[in-house]
Parts: sequence; C-alpha cells; structure tokens
Amino acid sequence: MPVLTAPLDAVTIPRRKPTLMVVDDEEGPRQSVRVVFNEDFDVLMATDGPSAISLAQNHRIDVAVLDIRMAGMSGIEVLERLKYVDPGIEVVMMTAFETTDTMRQALRLRACDYINKPFDIGTLRAAVANAMQRRTLESEIHNNAEKLQELLGELQNQKIEEQMSQTRGEIYASIIHDINGPLTVISGFIQLLNQRIGNSTRLGLEDLEFIKDRLKTITRQVTNCIEISRRYLGFLRQKSDEAPRAGINELLTDLIHLVQVHPTLHNNAFTVERLAENMFVRMNGTDVIQILLNLTVNALQCVSTQHAVNVEAKVLFRAVDLPSLKDGEQERFLNVENFENNAPLAMFSVSDNGPGISPEILPKIFQPYFTTKGPKEGTGLGLNIVHRLVKGAKGALHVRSEIGKGTTFTVYLPAIPAA
Ligand SMILES: Nc1ncnc2c1ncn2[C@@H]1O[C@H](COP(=O)(O)OP(=O)(O)OP(=O)(O)O)[C@@H](O)[C@H]1O
Ligand SMILES: [Mg+2]
Repeated sequence: MPVLTAPLDAVTIPRRKPTLMVVDDEEGPRQSVRVVFNEDFDVLMATDGPSAISLAQNHRIDVAVLDIRMAGMSGIEVLERLKYVDPGIEVVMMTAFETTDTMRQALRLRACDYINKPFDIGTLRAAVANAMQRRTLESEIHNNAEKLQELLGELQNQKIEEQMSQTRGEIYASIIHDINGPLTVISGFIQLLNQRIGNSTRLGLEDLEFIKDRLKTITRQVTNCIEISRRYLGFLRQKSDEAPRAGINELLTDLIHLVQVHPTLHNNAFTVERLAENMFVRMNGTDVIQILLNLTVNALQCVSTQHAVNVEAKVLFRAVDLPSLKDGEQERFLNVENFENNAPLAMFSVSDNGPGISPEILPKIFQPYFTTKGPKEGTGLGLNIVHRLVKGAKGALHVRSEIGKGTTFTVYLPAIPAA
C-alpha cells in the first residue's frame, strides 16, 4: 500500500506574527514606525488615546510605541488604561522634552522603555526588540505558572485518591474486626449443635427446641454480619425519615446471649444491670451492640486470671456535668465538641476489676491499631470503632482507670422515652 507523506512545510502551523501598535497624533512618526516594522509585525495604528484603547480591547497587542504628548488623552493616561486592558502589553514611550517627573511616572506605570523624538531607527529597533523579548518571557512565565497550578491540582487529586484508598483499607479492616464477633458466636453455636446432634441417633422434642433456639441466634448473627458490612460500605440507608431507635433492655438481653457463648468469658463473673423502666436509645441497634460487645470483650480480656465484668444501663434526666469529666492522668473524655448533651440520655457503663490502664498508655488506646495484645489476639481497632460509632451518634465516651483497681468505660447516647 502506498504511503502518503505530506511535505514538511505543509503541516507546520504558521506562527502568528507579533502585533505592534503605534500611537501618535502626528502622521510622520506613525508612518516611519510602520515602515520599519512592517515585515516582522502586524502593525496597527492609532491617532489618539481612545482609538488605541479600543484597538487593545479587540486585538492581542504585544508591544505599543506610544507618544507621550498627544492632544486629548495624554500618553501617561493611555499607558495606564492599556495596562488595565492587558497588563502584559509592553509599552515603549516616545518622548520629546519631558520632565524627569513625567518619565518616572511612566516607568512607575510599568512602561518598559522610552526613546527620544526624533528617534534614530537603530534605537527604535533595539527598544522594540527588547520590549518583545520581555513580552515573550512574561507570557512564558505566565504559561508556566498556569501549568504549575494545573500540576498542583493534579497532585492534590492524587493525594485525595491516596487518602481514599487509605480510608478504604481502614473500612475493610473494621468490617473484618466487627464481623469477627458475630462469627465467633456463630461458630460457637454450630459446635454446640454438632455436639447435641452428633451423639444422638434420633432427635427428641427437647433436642428440636434446643436446635430451633440456637438456629434463631445464628440467624440473628448472620443478619448482624450483613448489617455491619452494609453500614461500613455505606449501603445502609435509613428506610424512613424516622430516627433509628433500639430498646435498651432488649439490647442488654442480646448482649448477654452474645457474651455467654463468647470464648473470652471463661470463668469470669459477668453481670448486667438493666433498666427498671425501659427506654430507647437513638441509634441503630447493631451499632449499640457493637459498642457494648467491644467494651465487654476488652474488659473480659484485660487479665487472664479470673475477674468480674459488669455492664450497667441508666437513663439520665439531666445533661451531663461536663466539667466534672475532664481529661487527666486516670481519665479521658472523648467527643465533647460534638456531644449533644441534652436529657434524656442513655448511659452504658462497662466496668472490670482488672489491672487498669497506665497513664502512659491511656492517651493512646483509641488510636487505630494501638494494642498491647499479641498479634493473633488483637488488631487494636476495637476502641477506635467504638469511638467512631459514638461520634456518629453525637454521643460521648468516657474512660476512668486506676492501676490495680480496674477500668470503667462509659458511653453517653441520646435517649428517647419509651412512650
Ligand atoms: N478494660 C481494659 N483494661 C485494660 N486495658 C484495656 C481495657 N480496654 C482496652 N484496654 C487497652 O486498650 C488497648 C486497645 O484496645 P482495642 O479494643 O482498641 O484493641 P485490642 O482489644 O487490643 O484489639 P481488638 O479490639 O482488635 O481485639 C488494648 O490493647 C488494651 O491495652
Ligand atoms: Mg478490643
């Protein structure tokens, strides 16, 4: 197949000639400037200030040669206006017997040079060439600044991308962390079922009740897993405009079920104090359970020897006295800034009589991935997730710990009266 080639000069884009404007009310100098620069420039001519400004508004002018003394609008005024129309125009002033003051004023208004009338052609050429060089340089600088700005913008986008992928990583880690709880329960229940079914050849009524009951819990935990991942991946939409709510005593019952089969319970004493009169908390039930389970598992894991963990729910009919809950050696108060401290409030406390948390460690425990546990025992995400959930519900979180005595985590959440 024949290859078609275009002659080289047929594809080169013709370069634009630069534009020079001569502004003079005398015909003689106007014509001589035109003759000198006609070949290298597109030359525009103006006989007075207003027509010069109008030309500048309608053409891209690179250099102007401007008479300082003209009838009507003075050269100085024209210079100022031209710079206003396009700050990049380079202006060479033509002067006769001006005072140094006028010259200084012209330079202050960013005229680039001046030549004396009558001028010799060599001086005029040099002045215009110099002005043109400045113009080119200036537009290059301008272009580079624009490119730099573009580059900075791209860099910023890149940074956002990076942050997003980091957040994505954290979200996946959090899903795995949170799903681990329900999965532990599911696997515990399946083991129980296996034991019960494995040894019997026939299933009695009692066995069937046992299996049905355990299957219900397994189903609930599977739903939990799905809800957790949906919540993190942002798919969970509120179905109606109603605020989410969950019954506090029902949540505590769920917690008991979950902890009873959790491997960390061992022989530790686990007690729960419910509300005498039930109330609702203004939060998604799965999220509240996630908070309570994380705090309870931490309390159960705080020491390997036998100890006690207590979970207590209360309703506060008054706002929390914030100044009494300051950060200190033994306590931390989180999310004070966003806390909607309006009664009624639900208060959940998770206490243990374990070894306590040292003042050096206390400020770090809410940081993501901070853990004092072995690599297979903890990811260090639990408290970070608790903090995030509490913050999302506009609640507050408090921890008080004393070495040798134990630790209490308290969560404050907005409550809704049961009625
Ligand atoms: N009740 C507690 N008593 C003593 N130390 C605690 C208690 N709760 C938390 N901590 C300390 O805070 C650290 C961080 O807890 P966090 O729940 O964020 O992570 P983790 O429990 O180590 O790991 P994960 O929750 O992923 O299993 C723990 O490693 C522990 O040192
Ligand atoms: Mg934990």
